[in-house]
Amino acid sequence: MSDDTLPPRPLEPSAIAREAHEDAPTNPSGNPTLGDMIALRFGRRDLLKGLLGVAAMGATLAPRAMESALAAPAPQGGTASDRFAFPELTAAPDETIHVAQGHEAHVLVRWGDPVLPGAPAFDPQAQTPAAQAMQFGYNNDFVGFLPDPQGRPDRGLLVVNHEYTNPELMFPGIGPQRVKNGFPGMTRERVDIEMAAHGGSVIGIVREGGRWRLAPVPQARRITATTPMLLSGPAAGDDLLKTQDDPEGRNVLGMINNCAGGMTPWGTWLTCEENFNLYFMGKAEGHARERAFKRYGIPAGFFAWGRYHDRFDIAKVPNEANRFGWVVEIDPVDPASVPRKRTALGRFKHEGAGNVVNGDGRFVIYQGDDQKMDYVYRFVTARPYDPVNRAANRDLLDEGTLSVAVFHPDGTGEWRPLTFGTAPLVPENGFTSQAQVLIETRLAADALRATKMDRPEDVEVNPRTGKVYVMLTSNDTRKEDETNAANPRAANVFGHIVEITPNGGDHAAPAFTWDILVKCGDPSVAEVGATFSASTSGYGWFANPDNCAVDSQGRLWVATDGNSAKSTGRTDGIWGVETEGDGRATAKRFFSVPVGAEMCGPYFTPDDTTFFVAVQHPGESEDGRLSTFDDPSTRWPDFKDGTPPRPSVVTITRIGGGPVGG
Ligand code: FEO
Ligand code: CA
Ligand code: CA
Repeated sequence: MSDDTLPPRPLEPSAIAREAHEDAPTNPSGNPTLGDMIALRFGRRDLLKGLLGVAAMGATLAPRAMESALAAPAPQGGTASDRFAFPELTAAPDETIHVAQGHEAHVLVRWGDPVLPGAPAFDPQAQTPAAQAMQFGYNNDFVGFLPDPQGRPDRGLLVVNHEYTNPELMFPGIGPQRVKNGFPGMTRERVDIEMAAHGGSVIGIVREGGRWRLAPVPQARRITATTPMLLSGPAAGDDLLKTQDDPEGRNVLGMINNCAGGMTPWGTWLTCEENFNLYFMGKAEGHARERAFKRYGIPAGFFAWGRYHDRFDIAKVPNEANRFGWVVEIDPVDPASVPRKRTALGRFKHEGAGNVVNGDGRFVIYQGDDQKMDYVYRFVTARPYDPVNRAANRDLLDEGTLSVAVFHPDGTGEWRPLTFGTAPLVPENGFTSQAQVLIETRLAADALRATKMDRPEDVEVNPRTGKVYVMLTSNDTRKEDETNAANPRAANVFGHIVEITPNGGDHAAPAFTWDILVKCGDPSVAEVGATFSASTSGYGWFANPDNCAVDSQGRLWVATDGNSAKSTGRTDGIWGVETEGDGRATAKRFFSVPVGAEMCGPYFTPDDTTFFVAVQHPGESEDGRLSTFDDPSTRWPDFKDGTPPRPSVVTITRIGGGPVGG
């Protein structure tokens, strides 16, 4: 599917919004009451109407006209150099994927494809929990590649997160599901299919004739919302983690909303639980941990699971929600291994787990808490990583120091440790133990007066320069008097990227300096305040950075979540962003997803010849267009009547070979 063109369907207006992504802040610490939008410099509605009318109109025009609408803000004529040699992608928003010329993109694995031996063929009209538990799950997000455990070339394992489910696109005859509309058409069987479609997959892949395909391997595995796992580290066994079914507070069933992640140098998969609050029903009022539950937005009632499984109802099992929101470590090479929720890394809406081995051998993980007004964290292990003895690293992540970032206005910053017993994390302030500090991480970080960010998503290290990149998707709720130097725009609908430089190149250092790499949005509209370089073209700018990857040349590739025909005149995708030299802040468009999808996963093979990307929720409702199983906005990638769109992992390679992106 190399830059092929399908006629775009008109996107019809209707009342449905992408509520799951609205993600209102739950951070009340030290700020005026939220919700009063009057003080905003510009509201989202006016911004979209006024500045982006051309792009919005384009959605109903013919493909050629749409393409010129996308190009409307012309290149600004800069000549700064960047290291991205590919011809920029110019495709218009439509129903399929596109990649820059000179590259090819192929679907590798789709929702419902067989993972385990004996898995039945995908039948979207008659899906069952048992079939789904053996097939590739829904909404692929993080993708990690592990070279073949036996050392064979052109083979490997792929680990993939399945973040959440879109029941309105998975099941015939139903629309959006919320506790507030009574989950119309939801059944126990469908809930159980959803639970089996969550979690993760381990699959084998082989490259033949230059093209990757699935290969049966003994390591193939499905992990779901019911897979037994262990809580480990300082909070394991704490009273707040005990339930009727688990009086030890150490044994959990499943992982949910696994968003981004990371691979460790010892070959394990870090998979991060993000919006776990969506799965719980009941009432926070009167709950023993009411303040903490509200700080985490529990319960949100987006899924009907609590109707059929008591543990997802906080009135019936009050502590179950404390057992989600962790980073889970999985050994993909051993399919019998028990996944471990590493409590030392804290509990919040983990986006990812970008990591680096520090100069002193300790292992460092950077993490974003993906909510408007939430924080950036860092975890440093107590012991060094052992590069020669894999077993020695087995529980390396159970001991270490979790810190939260404070960005000062003068371009310096500091990491404040979440250490119980050190002011302000003391009993007088309601903190009772290190376990509780980790379980209620957000309250501890509030007390440490961390800097409220514009939805921190991936945080990744460039191993060539030691600099750290923080993707900040957006924050339309930030008011003028809530801006700070690191989050300088009120009503920040387009997001930005912050660059952190650890002091002395030491990722365990208590302090750092920082800068803004780019403020996103259309740089040709002065009011937006975007800061892409003058060499960035009308295709090259983007909004809503979410995930990212750094290739072995040290180039930054950014994946987005939130662009649409109406918001920016483009779908989500991948952009190369120059970070060095006179071309700094030059962005170049490389790949685009079908309507309704977000771009996830970006991950390179060690030789950069294959770039894995995850197309998540293709055909999800956006721009006021309700999209369902029966009437989806796209049927990518199958384009077959009766088959809904299918989240899929895609491989990108260069035609004729060589590193992706030139
Ligand atoms: Fe699951 Fe923050 O995106
Ligand atoms: Ca994400
Ligand atoms: Ca996202």
